[in-house]
Amino acid sequence: MRSLTMRHVKFASNGVGEEDVDVATERKRVTRGTGRKDLLRLENLTKVYKTRKMGHHLAVDKMCIGVPEGECFGLLGVNGAGKTTTFKMLTGDLRPTSGDAYLNRYSMTKDMLKVQQNIGYCPQFDALFDELTAREHIQLYSRLRGVPPSEENQIVEWALKKLNLTEYQNKLSGTYSGGNKRKLSTAIALIGHPPLIFMDEPTTGMDPHSRRFLWDLILNLIKDGRSIILTSHSMEECEALCTRLAIMVNGQFKCLGSIQHLKNKFGDGYTLSLRLKGPEFEHSQTRARRFILQNFPAADIKECHHNLLQFELKSQDISLSYVFSKLEEAQTDLNIEDYSVSQNTLDNVFINFVKQQVEKVQESEDSTLDIHASRTRSRAVSSTTNISSSSSQDDEMLSDLQAEVPLETEDDDVPLLGFGGAGLMIS
Ligand SMILES: Nc1ncnc2c1ncn2[C@@H]1O[C@H](COP(=O)(O)OP(=O)(O)O)[C@@H](O)[C@H]1O
Ligand SMILES: [Mg+2]
Repeated sequence: MRSLTMRHVKFASNGVGEEDVDVATERKRVTRGTGRKDLLRLENLTKVYKTRKMGHHLAVDKMCIGVPEGECFGLLGVNGAGKTTTFKMLTGDLRPTSGDAYLNRYSMTKDMLKVQQNIGYCPQFDALFDELTAREHIQLYSRLRGVPPSEENQIVEWALKKLNLTEYQNKLSGTYSGGNKRKLSTAIALIGHPPLIFMDEPTTGMDPHSRRFLWDLILNLIKDGRSIILTSHSMEECEALCTRLAIMVNGQFKCLGSIQHLKNKFGDGYTLSLRLKGPEFEHSQTRARRFILQNFPAADIKECHHNLLQFELKSQDISLSYVFSKLEEAQTDLNIEDYSVSQNTLDNVFINFVKQQVEKVQESEDSTLDIHASRTRSRAVSSTTNISSSSSQDDEMLSDLQAEVPLETEDDDVPLLGFGGAGLMIS
């Protein structure tokens, strides 16, 4: 392998100062060492991808979290937030750029083999061999995990039964439905009774019956004292399973806590939507905004498009009867076609955070175009490309990314072990 040139480049940090108080408290707890009893501990885990096309890309930014035994921790975020990258670092598929994670006392960067003996991984994309049956898969992975031959049959029967796959045990996995493939990937992750299991969108593509089945299985695993780190796009699933969750945006946690805590903290209140009559929308908008802000001083404007206005109202500051009476009074005068008041849910909380990711992606797309253009220009005058000779746009992008971290060459993305995404951990 080509030797790695480690360069220290300043990335302006996203500002720990702006961090949510729960996220900051967890960071302090973990970095001060008071989370040492946790089964899993992430200490400033960071990943910067470096690709020719995109340049430097901060996918996971100084993540800190401690997960105790018997917890189902939910990792939420839109596509591209950094969930899979986090999992890949925790399972040894990718080397972190900086920071470390610990399973009990084993460091992921120093004792990955020991760590891998104690984790199961159900990857986002099923890593199955089309030409093997479910029974053969479980046999194969049992042997790789070092299950004694005398116990192999028992394990295979247990896993097939546990995941409801007995009916399909002798069929080639290439012929399975998406749901059965997910079940088989889950069965593989459970082999060897690992105390910690990573599940990357385990129920995506499952029918409601299979999903319920997997939920029950996960709840039993937690009762058994095992810990699960789960990613999901379903709020219903998180409500059913997660004891704690975090919403990730651009590689950082934006909030952290139990579902009830997050609902109370971020979802408490109402969304007030107004639809205005035409044709003079701009004028109507200004008047409506002024009216709302005068009558509900704690209202925050959330959206403002053409004929639609949305405000957030904190529930402790307001009574519903007051909202309705004020709006009924002003409906004709303000040119309001119709309006609605709805209670915020965990979905609203998620959507509000996720908007930041979309905005950031948009920004980074624009800046990547600039950077590409500037790189082409700078290469025309100089054949050596390094950080110090890069253009001011490069510097801007780098400072956007924040944090002082070493960078690696593209070789960095080669898995530490040869199994890539193949959902198995060898013991
Ligand atoms: N191998 C890679 N090389 C470069 N960038 C990557 C690579 N894998 C993922 N990314 C980028 O890192 C970010 C996080 O991706 P990922 O961890 O897959 O997010 P998620 O699982 O939350 O959808 C995305 O912007 C993605 O484009
Ligand atoms: Mg993913």
